[in-house]
Amino acid sequence: MLVLGIESSCDETAAALVNDRKEILASTVLTQSEHKNFGGVVPELAARAHLEHIDEIIGETFAQAAIIPRDIDAVAVAAGPGLIGGVTVGVMAAKSLALALDKPFIALNHLEAHALVARLHTDIAYPYLLLLTSGGHCQILVVEDVGRFKRLGTTIDDAAGEAFDKTSKMLGLGYPGGPIVEKMAALGDDTRFVLPRPLYNSPDCDLSFSGLKTAVRKIIESYSPDGQIEHAIMRKRDIADICACFQKAVGDVFTRKLERAIAYFLQHYPTGRYLVTAGGVAANLYLRERLQKLCQRTGLQFAAPPINLCTDNGVMIAWAGVEHALRQMYSPLDFKPRPRWPLDENAPKAQGAGGVKA
Ligand code: KG4
Ligand code: ZN
Repeated sequence: MLVLGIESSCDETAAALVNDRKEILASTVLTQSEHKNFGGVVPELAARAHLEHIDEIIGETFAQAAIIPRDIDAVAVAAGPGLIGGVTVGVMAAKSLALALDKPFIALNHLEAHALVARLHTDIAYPYLLLLTSGGHCQILVVEDVGRFKRLGTTIDDAAGEAFDKTSKMLGLGYPGGPIVEKMAALGDDTRFVLPRPLYNSPDCDLSFSGLKTAVRKIIESYSPDGQIEHAIMRKRDIADICACFQKAVGDVFTRKLERAIAYFLQHYPTGRYLVTAGGVAANLYLRERLQKLCQRTGLQFAAPPINLCTDNGVMIAWAGVEHALRQMYSPLDFKPRPRWPLDENAPKAQGAGGVKA
């Protein structure tokens, strides 16, 4: 079983070929540089860039694997959620290929692809507990099976990746913010500034990062003669300390909310063994270490995809495509791209997760 995966839902144009023996035959990722000066992804620029590059990225992927298109068994694509212009580019390319080659078409939820890709390198059985944390989403879920999720909690405002990006932007560090803030945080003192831990004591698994971002803004403003963050005068040391305190706050919130989620998970899914983290923020080594320690304390095993498979890529789409294809979960060719697509849309929010006491 060999699947071509195509990803174009944000600012990466990517494709990969993965088979059911868990072999990555080829992977091509083009990260758009068009957004560097804007501190975030500009949807129209992203769509145009996907359109311009998607054919060559797919062609390069086949060339890398020395495979002809006819030899694949299915075409999978991230069909949402995401920026609709980019998603549509990928979906049209995937549908055209599937139609021309007469192969099954698989319209995937981008978040499901993040959720399943850890199974490519680690033998993780269903069900498992998942912290899905990216630029647009931050959720704690139980992955019960392919296509079956139970949401225990979600952010009520910003995603964690968004908070990393905004912190970076306010500090003038550039986009994407996560990797730069992590690098700076490693040099800083994580006890210097007092930052809030939003929803820390709420009796549920929900998260919030907007108050944290505002608190960071206030600290930066205090370094400015006129209170405008653009005019803040900061030493590298100050920037590093803010990054360290911010990152620690994110780690504390994740740990706290996951403690609750783990209690629920162990009670309701006694066969479950793993806590997995996925999505762009899961590339953060400090946060991975915090989760690893949490697992040691609570008796779960910890797993995360390799760093390069945390941020958007084609491998996760191809692998989720393999998982769908093995169960013959195919999509009709008239599937419409979905800008919004909750992972657990058919399942009610877990009863009782809100009441779990850590
Ligand atoms: O999963 P992803 O590539 O795209 C979305 O689906 O959103 O995630 C991108 C997000 C960005 O917000 C980026 O700043 C964040 O992941 N990110 C990180 C790190 N690497 C990427 N956040 C924290 N630490 C990192 N090392
Ligand atoms: Zn993503």
